[in-house]
Amino acid sequence: MSLRFRAGLIGCGFYSRNHLHAWRDLAADVELVAVCDRDEHRAKAAAVAFDVPRWYGDAARMFATESLDFVDIVTTMPSHKSLVLLAASHKVPAIVQKPFAPTWQECLDMVDACGDAGVPLMVHENFRFQSPIRAVRRILEEGTIGELTWGRITWRTGYDIYAGQPYLASEERFILLDIGVHVLDLARVLLGEVDRVFCETQSVRPGIAGEDAATIMLRHVNGAVSVVDCSYAARRDPDPFPEVLLEIEGRRGSLILSPGLELRVTSDGTTTVHSLRTPLLPWTSEPWHVSQESVLHTQRHWVECLRSGREPETSGRDNLKTYALVEAAYESAKAHRAVRANA
Ligand SMILES: NC(=O)c1ccc[n+]([C@@H]2O[C@H](COP(=O)([O-])OP(=O)(O)OC[C@H]3O[C@@H](n4cnc5c(N)ncnc54)[C@H](O)[C@@H]3O)[C@@H](O)[C@H]2O)c1
Repeated sequence: MSLRFRAGLIGCGFYSRNHLHAWRDLAADVELVAVCDRDEHRAKAAAVAFDVPRWYGDAARMFATESLDFVDIVTTMPSHKSLVLLAASHKVPAIVQKPFAPTWQECLDMVDACGDAGVPLMVHENFRFQSPIRAVRRILEEGTIGELTWGRITWRTGYDIYAGQPYLASEERFILLDIGVHVLDLARVLLGEVDRVFCETQSVRPGIAGEDAATIMLRHVNGAVSVVDCSYAARRDPDPFPEVLLEIEGRRGSLILSPGLELRVTSDGTTTVHSLRTPLLPWTSEPWHVSQESVLHTQRHWVECLRSGREPETSGRDNLKTYALVEAAYESAKAHRAVRANA
Protein backbone atom coordinates (compact mmCIF):
# COMPACT_ATOMS: atom_id res chain seq x y z
CA MET A 1 0.00 0.00 0.00
CA SER A 2 1.32 3.50 -0.82
CA LEU A 3 2.03 5.94 2.00
CA ARG A 4 -0.76 8.19 3.20
CA PHE A 5 -0.28 11.95 2.95
CA ARG A 6 -0.35 13.83 6.25
CA ALA A 7 -2.62 16.84 5.81
CA GLY A 8 -3.69 19.91 7.78
CA LEU A 9 -6.84 21.96 7.10
CA ILE A 10 -7.20 25.68 7.85
CA GLY A 11 -10.65 27.32 8.10
CA CYS A 12 -13.42 25.35 9.81
CA GLY A 13 -16.42 27.44 8.69
CA PHE A 14 -19.51 26.92 6.53
CA TYR A 15 -18.03 25.12 3.49
CA SER A 16 -15.28 23.20 5.30
CA ARG A 17 -17.66 20.38 6.29
CA ASN A 18 -17.65 19.28 2.66
CA HIS A 19 -13.84 19.21 2.62
CA LEU A 20 -13.76 17.31 5.91
CA HIS A 21 -16.23 14.71 4.65
CA ALA A 22 -14.31 14.36 1.39
CA TRP A 23 -10.97 13.87 3.21
CA ARG A 24 -12.67 11.18 5.26
CA ASP A 25 -13.78 9.48 2.03
CA LEU A 26 -10.16 9.69 0.83
CA ALA A 27 -8.76 8.21 4.05
CA ALA A 28 -6.93 5.46 2.16
CA ASP A 29 -4.66 8.20 0.75
CA VAL A 30 -4.89 11.05 3.25
CA GLU A 31 -4.62 11.24 7.01
CA LEU A 32 -5.98 14.54 8.30
CA VAL A 33 -3.70 15.10 11.29
CA ALA A 34 -4.70 18.65 12.28
CA VAL A 35 -7.34 21.32 11.76
CA CYS A 36 -6.95 25.02 12.44
CA ASP A 37 -9.24 28.03 12.79
CA ARG A 38 -8.52 31.38 14.40
CA ASP A 39 -11.84 30.73 16.15
CA GLU A 40 -10.59 27.93 18.40
CA HIS A 41 -14.12 26.70 19.17
CA ARG A 42 -14.64 25.98 15.48
CA ALA A 43 -11.30 24.19 15.20
CA LYS A 44 -12.05 22.03 18.22
CA ALA A 45 -15.60 21.25 17.05
CA ALA A 46 -14.29 20.13 13.63
CA ALA A 47 -11.58 17.97 15.25
CA VAL A 48 -14.12 16.30 17.50
CA ALA A 49 -16.72 15.76 14.75
CA PHE A 50 -14.21 14.30 12.28
CA ASP A 51 -11.85 12.45 14.67
CA VAL A 52 -8.88 14.68 13.81
CA PRO A 53 -6.13 14.17 16.42
CA ARG A 54 -5.02 17.80 16.89
CA TRP A 55 -6.51 21.28 16.51
CA TYR A 56 -4.95 24.77 16.48
CA GLY A 57 -6.10 28.39 16.77
CA ASP A 58 -3.04 29.69 14.93
CA ALA A 59 -1.80 28.52 11.52
CA ALA A 60 1.85 29.46 12.19
CA ARG A 61 1.83 27.20 15.25
CA MET A 62 0.30 24.36 13.25
CA PHE A 63 3.04 24.57 10.58
CA ALA A 64 5.76 24.83 13.24
CA THR A 65 4.47 21.81 15.15
CA GLU A 66 3.20 19.42 12.48
CA SER A 67 5.07 17.68 9.72
CA LEU A 68 2.60 18.13 6.84
CA ASP A 69 2.64 16.74 3.29
CA PHE A 70 0.05 19.35 2.27
CA VAL A 71 -2.39 21.92 3.61
CA ASP A 72 -6.00 22.53 2.59
CA ILE A 73 -6.92 26.22 2.97
CA VAL A 74 -10.70 26.73 3.31
CA THR A 75 -10.72 30.29 4.63
CA THR A 76 -12.25 33.27 2.80
CA MET A 77 -10.00 35.05 0.31
CA PRO A 78 -8.48 37.89 2.43
CA SER A 79 -6.34 35.34 4.31
CA HIS A 80 -5.29 33.22 1.31
CA LYS A 81 -2.06 35.02 0.46
CA SER A 82 -0.62 35.03 4.00
CA LEU A 83 -1.55 31.37 4.52
CA VAL A 84 -0.20 30.19 1.14
CA LEU A 85 3.05 32.10 1.72
CA LEU A 86 3.29 30.55 5.17
CA ALA A 87 2.85 27.09 3.63
CA ALA A 88 5.48 27.87 0.97
CA SER A 89 7.95 29.03 3.64
CA HIS A 90 7.59 25.55 5.22
CA LYS A 91 7.82 23.87 1.76
CA VAL A 92 4.30 22.51 2.20
CA PRO A 93 2.13 22.11 -0.95
CA ALA A 94 -1.19 23.96 -0.73
CA ILE A 95 -4.69 23.64 -2.11
CA VAL A 96 -6.67 26.84 -1.60
CA GLN A 97 -10.38 27.60 -2.04
CA LYS A 98 -11.62 29.98 -4.72
CA PRO A 99 -11.70 32.93 -5.18
CA PHE A 100 -7.91 32.77 -5.31
CA ALA A 101 -7.49 36.27 -3.75
CA PRO A 102 -9.13 39.71 -3.64
CA THR A 103 -6.59 41.11 -6.15
CA TRP A 104 -4.62 40.02 -9.21
CA GLN A 105 -1.31 40.95 -7.55
CA GLU A 106 -1.98 38.65 -4.60
CA CYS A 107 -2.71 35.78 -7.01
CA LEU A 108 0.66 36.40 -8.71
CA ASP A 109 2.44 36.58 -5.36
CA MET A 110 1.09 33.15 -4.37
CA VAL A 111 2.02 31.55 -7.69
CA ASP A 112 5.54 33.06 -7.46
CA ALA A 113 6.05 32.04 -3.82
CA CYS A 114 5.08 28.42 -4.46
CA GLY A 115 7.10 28.37 -7.69
CA ASP A 116 10.19 29.68 -5.85
CA ALA A 117 9.69 27.16 -3.03
CA GLY A 118 9.17 24.36 -5.58
CA VAL A 119 5.86 23.26 -4.04
CA PRO A 120 2.59 22.50 -5.88
CA LEU A 121 -0.27 24.99 -5.57
CA MET A 122 -3.83 24.24 -6.67
CA VAL A 123 -6.97 26.37 -6.51
CA HIS A 124 -10.05 24.47 -5.35
CA GLU A 125 -11.95 25.39 -8.55
CA ASN A 126 -14.54 22.64 -8.23
CA PHE A 127 -17.15 23.46 -10.92
CA ARG A 128 -15.11 21.74 -13.62
CA PHE A 129 -15.05 18.63 -11.41
CA GLN A 130 -18.87 18.42 -11.09
CA SER A 131 -20.14 15.09 -12.41
CA PRO A 132 -22.44 16.63 -15.10
CA ILE A 133 -19.64 18.91 -16.32
CA ARG A 134 -17.22 16.01 -16.52
CA ALA A 135 -19.75 14.06 -18.59
CA VAL A 136 -20.19 17.04 -20.93
CA ARG A 137 -16.40 17.45 -21.26
CA ARG A 138 -16.07 13.80 -22.30
CA ILE A 139 -18.75 14.22 -24.99
CA LEU A 140 -17.10 17.38 -26.34
CA GLU A 141 -13.65 15.75 -26.33
CA GLU A 142 -15.03 12.85 -28.39
CA GLY A 143 -16.01 15.39 -31.07
CA THR A 144 -19.69 14.35 -30.94
CA ILE A 145 -21.00 17.81 -31.89
CA GLY A 146 -18.04 18.81 -34.05
CA GLU A 147 -16.05 22.04 -33.97
CA LEU A 148 -17.63 24.38 -31.40
CA THR A 149 -19.20 27.61 -32.61
CA TRP A 150 -21.39 28.99 -29.78
CA GLY A 151 -22.18 28.46 -26.13
CA ARG A 152 -24.22 29.68 -23.21
CA ILE A 153 -23.28 28.96 -19.60
CA THR A 154 -25.90 30.02 -17.07
CA TRP A 155 -25.98 30.06 -13.28
CA ARG A 156 -29.00 31.92 -11.89
CA THR A 157 -30.79 31.58 -8.58
CA GLY A 158 -32.77 33.35 -5.87
CA TYR A 159 -31.60 30.83 -3.23
CA ASP A 160 -30.74 32.56 0.06
CA ILE A 161 -26.98 32.18 -0.05
CA TYR A 162 -26.61 35.00 2.52
CA ALA A 163 -27.89 32.67 5.27
CA GLY A 164 -24.81 30.41 5.04
CA GLN A 165 -22.36 33.02 3.74
CA PRO A 166 -23.32 36.40 5.29
CA TYR A 167 -19.93 37.91 4.30
CA LEU A 168 -21.06 37.94 0.64
CA ALA A 169 -23.47 40.85 1.24
CA SER A 170 -20.56 43.19 2.01
CA GLU A 171 -18.23 42.18 -0.86
CA GLU A 172 -17.72 45.18 -3.16
CA ARG A 173 -16.52 42.86 -5.93
CA PHE A 174 -19.23 40.28 -5.46
CA ILE A 175 -20.78 37.87 -7.97
CA LEU A 176 -18.05 38.04 -10.62
CA LEU A 177 -15.50 36.92 -8.03
CA ASP A 178 -17.77 34.49 -6.21
CA ILE A 179 -19.62 32.71 -9.08
CA GLY A 180 -18.26 34.44 -12.18
CA VAL A 181 -14.91 32.86 -11.42
CA HIS A 182 -16.55 29.41 -11.67
CA VAL A 183 -18.55 29.98 -14.83
CA LEU A 184 -15.70 31.80 -16.59
CA ASP A 185 -13.48 28.85 -15.73
CA LEU A 186 -16.08 26.59 -17.38
CA ALA A 187 -16.10 28.82 -20.46
CA ARG A 188 -12.35 28.25 -20.83
CA VAL A 189 -12.61 24.52 -20.21
CA LEU A 190 -15.62 23.87 -22.44
CA LEU A 191 -15.10 26.34 -25.30
CA GLY A 192 -11.39 27.22 -25.17
CA GLU A 193 -9.22 30.17 -24.12
CA VAL A 194 -10.68 33.66 -24.45
CA ASP A 195 -9.59 36.62 -26.57
CA ARG A 196 -12.15 39.39 -25.77
CA VAL A 197 -14.63 40.06 -22.96
CA PHE A 198 -17.67 42.34 -22.78
CA CYS A 199 -19.55 42.50 -19.49
CA GLU A 200 -22.50 44.31 -17.91
CA THR A 201 -23.13 44.02 -14.17
CA GLN A 202 -26.21 44.85 -12.06
CA SER A 203 -26.97 45.27 -8.36
CA VAL A 204 -30.52 43.96 -8.09
CA ARG A 205 -31.05 43.11 -4.42
CA PRO A 206 -31.27 46.19 -2.17
CA GLY A 207 -28.72 46.49 0.63
CA ILE A 208 -25.77 44.59 -0.84
CA ALA A 209 -22.40 46.21 -1.45
CA GLY A 210 -21.47 44.74 -4.83
CA GLU A 211 -22.98 43.45 -8.07
CA ASP A 212 -25.26 40.40 -7.78
CA ALA A 213 -25.83 39.81 -11.51
CA ALA A 214 -23.45 39.74 -14.46
CA THR A 215 -23.88 39.06 -18.17
CA ILE A 216 -20.67 38.46 -20.08
CA MET A 217 -20.05 37.91 -23.78
CA LEU A 218 -16.82 36.18 -24.78
CA ARG A 219 -14.99 35.78 -28.07
CA HIS A 220 -12.84 32.66 -27.84
CA VAL A 221 -9.45 32.31 -29.53
CA ASN A 222 -10.84 29.52 -31.75
CA GLY A 223 -13.60 31.84 -33.06
CA ALA A 224 -16.43 30.51 -30.89
CA VAL A 225 -18.67 33.04 -29.12
CA SER A 226 -20.28 32.46 -25.75
CA VAL A 227 -22.60 34.16 -23.27
CA VAL A 228 -21.89 33.54 -19.63
CA ASP A 229 -24.36 34.85 -17.06
CA CYS A 230 -24.85 34.56 -13.34
CA SER A 231 -27.31 36.00 -10.83
CA TYR A 232 -28.12 35.74 -7.14
CA ALA A 233 -31.31 37.72 -7.71
CA ALA A 234 -33.23 35.58 -10.20
CA ARG A 235 -36.83 34.69 -9.33
CA ARG A 236 -37.36 31.37 -11.10
CA ASP A 237 -39.70 28.44 -10.60
CA PRO A 238 -38.26 25.89 -10.38
CA ASP A 239 -35.07 27.47 -9.05
CA PRO A 240 -32.18 25.43 -10.48
CA PHE A 241 -29.76 26.19 -7.58
CA PRO A 242 -26.90 25.24 -7.70
CA GLU A 243 -26.97 23.68 -11.17
CA VAL A 244 -24.94 25.02 -14.09
CA LEU A 245 -27.08 25.04 -17.24
CA LEU A 246 -25.47 24.79 -20.68
CA GLU A 247 -26.23 25.22 -24.34
CA ILE A 248 -23.34 24.44 -26.67
CA GLU A 249 -23.49 24.34 -30.45
CA GLY A 250 -21.01 22.80 -32.85
CA ARG A 251 -20.86 22.30 -36.61
CA ARG A 252 -22.37 18.78 -36.28
CA GLY A 253 -24.86 19.23 -33.47
CA SER A 254 -25.61 20.63 -30.04
CA LEU A 255 -25.66 19.81 -26.39
CA ILE A 256 -28.29 21.19 -24.00
CA LEU A 257 -28.09 20.66 -20.22
CA SER A 258 -31.45 21.66 -18.68
CA PRO A 259 -32.77 22.07 -15.09
CA GLY A 260 -32.91 18.66 -13.44
CA LEU A 261 -29.63 17.80 -15.21
CA GLU A 262 -31.24 16.35 -18.32
CA LEU A 263 -28.76 16.38 -21.21
CA ARG A 264 -29.88 16.33 -24.85
CA VAL A 265 -27.12 15.63 -27.33
CA THR A 266 -27.80 16.14 -31.02
CA SER A 267 -25.21 14.77 -33.41
CA ASP A 268 -25.64 14.61 -37.20
CA GLY A 269 -29.44 14.89 -36.82
CA THR A 270 -29.86 12.20 -34.15
CA THR A 271 -30.77 13.18 -30.57
CA THR A 272 -30.07 11.18 -27.41
CA VAL A 273 -31.28 12.10 -23.93
CA HIS A 274 -29.28 11.33 -20.78
CA SER A 275 -29.92 11.95 -17.08
CA LEU A 276 -26.76 13.31 -15.47
CA ARG A 277 -28.11 13.01 -11.93
CA THR A 278 -25.90 10.98 -9.62
CA PRO A 279 -27.01 9.27 -6.39
CA LEU A 280 -26.55 11.13 -3.08
CA LEU A 281 -23.43 10.26 -1.09
CA PRO A 282 -24.01 9.40 2.59
CA TRP A 283 -23.00 12.97 3.56
CA THR A 284 -24.54 14.99 0.70
CA SER A 285 -28.05 16.42 0.46
CA GLU A 286 -30.21 18.36 -1.98
CA PRO A 287 -29.87 21.04 -3.24
CA TRP A 288 -26.08 21.27 -2.58
CA HIS A 289 -25.39 17.70 -3.71
CA VAL A 290 -23.70 18.46 -7.07
CA SER A 291 -21.43 21.03 -5.42
CA GLN A 292 -20.62 18.78 -2.47
CA GLU A 293 -19.79 15.80 -4.66
CA SER A 294 -17.46 17.94 -6.77
CA VAL A 295 -15.40 18.70 -3.65
CA LEU A 296 -14.60 14.99 -3.42
CA HIS A 297 -13.60 14.84 -7.12
CA THR A 298 -11.45 17.99 -6.74
CA GLN A 299 -9.64 16.70 -3.69
CA ARG A 300 -9.09 13.29 -5.34
CA HIS A 301 -7.52 15.05 -8.34
CA TRP A 302 -5.16 16.94 -6.00
CA VAL A 303 -4.08 13.69 -4.31
CA GLU A 304 -3.53 11.95 -7.67
CA CYS A 305 -1.40 14.89 -8.85
CA LEU A 306 0.67 14.92 -5.66
CA ARG A 307 1.23 11.17 -6.05
CA SER A 308 2.23 11.38 -9.72
CA GLY A 309 4.04 14.74 -9.66
CA ARG A 310 1.65 16.08 -12.34
CA GLU A 311 0.58 19.74 -12.36
CA PRO A 312 -3.07 19.92 -11.21
CA GLU A 313 -5.63 20.98 -13.82
CA THR A 314 -6.52 23.98 -11.69
CA SER A 315 -3.00 24.86 -10.54
CA GLY A 316 -2.34 28.38 -9.34
CA ARG A 317 -0.81 29.08 -12.76
CA ASP A 318 -3.90 27.83 -14.57
CA ASN A 319 -6.22 29.78 -12.30
CA LEU A 320 -4.46 33.03 -13.25
CA LYS A 321 -6.08 32.63 -16.70
CA THR A 322 -9.53 32.36 -15.11
CA TYR A 323 -8.83 35.23 -12.72
CA ALA A 324 -7.69 37.37 -15.67
CA LEU A 325 -11.17 36.92 -17.17
CA VAL A 326 -12.75 38.17 -13.93
CA GLU A 327 -10.48 41.22 -14.04
CA ALA A 328 -11.31 41.80 -17.69
CA ALA A 329 -15.04 41.51 -16.92
CA TYR A 330 -14.82 44.14 -14.17
CA GLU A 331 -12.80 46.42 -16.44
CA SER A 332 -15.31 45.97 -19.25
CA ALA A 333 -18.31 46.62 -16.98
CA LYS A 334 -16.69 49.82 -15.74
CA ALA A 335 -15.73 51.09 -19.19
CA HIS A 336 -18.81 49.73 -21.04
CA ARG A 337 -16.62 48.34 -23.81
CA ALA A 338 -14.98 45.05 -24.79
CA VAL A 339 -11.50 44.43 -23.37
CA ARG A 340 -8.75 41.93 -24.18
CA ALA A 341 -8.23 39.03 -21.80
CA ASN A 342 -4.57 39.10 -20.87
CA ALA A 343 -3.32 36.45 -18.46
N1 LIG B 1 -16.21 26.07 -4.31
C1 LIG B 1 -17.45 26.26 -3.84
O1 LIG B 1 -18.39 25.75 -4.41
C2 LIG B 1 -17.63 27.08 -2.60
C3 LIG B 1 -18.87 27.19 -1.95
C4 LIG B 1 -18.94 27.95 -0.78
C5 LIG B 1 -17.81 28.63 -0.31
N2 LIG B 1 -16.64 28.51 -1.01
C6 LIG B 1 -15.42 29.23 -0.59
O2 LIG B 1 -14.89 28.64 0.58
C7 LIG B 1 -14.19 29.63 1.33
C8 LIG B 1 -14.68 29.59 2.76
O3 LIG B 1 -16.03 29.97 2.77
P1 LIG B 1 -16.96 29.72 4.04
O4 LIG B 1 -18.33 30.09 3.61
O5 LIG B 1 -16.70 28.39 4.63
O6 LIG B 1 -16.40 30.87 5.03
P2 LIG B 1 -16.59 30.98 6.60
O7 LIG B 1 -16.40 32.42 6.95
O8 LIG B 1 -17.83 30.29 7.05
O9 LIG B 1 -15.36 30.12 7.17
C9 LIG B 1 -14.03 30.54 7.05
C10 LIG B 1 -13.31 30.18 8.35
O10 LIG B 1 -11.93 30.51 8.20
C11 LIG B 1 -11.46 31.03 9.44
N3 LIG B 1 -10.27 31.84 9.17
C12 LIG B 1 -10.19 32.99 8.43
N4 LIG B 1 -8.92 33.43 8.39
C13 LIG B 1 -8.17 32.54 9.09
C14 LIG B 1 -6.79 32.47 9.40
N5 LIG B 1 -5.92 33.38 8.97
N6 LIG B 1 -6.37 31.41 10.14
C15 LIG B 1 -7.23 30.47 10.59
N7 LIG B 1 -8.58 30.51 10.33
C16 LIG B 1 -9.03 31.54 9.60
C17 LIG B 1 -12.64 31.81 9.99
O11 LIG B 1 -12.55 31.96 11.41
C18 LIG B 1 -13.82 30.93 9.57
O12 LIG B 1 -14.18 29.98 10.57
C19 LIG B 1 -14.46 30.97 0.62
O13 LIG B 1 -13.33 31.34 -0.15
C20 LIG B 1 -15.67 30.68 -0.27
O14 LIG B 1 -15.70 31.45 -1.47
C21 LIG B 1 -16.53 27.75 -2.12
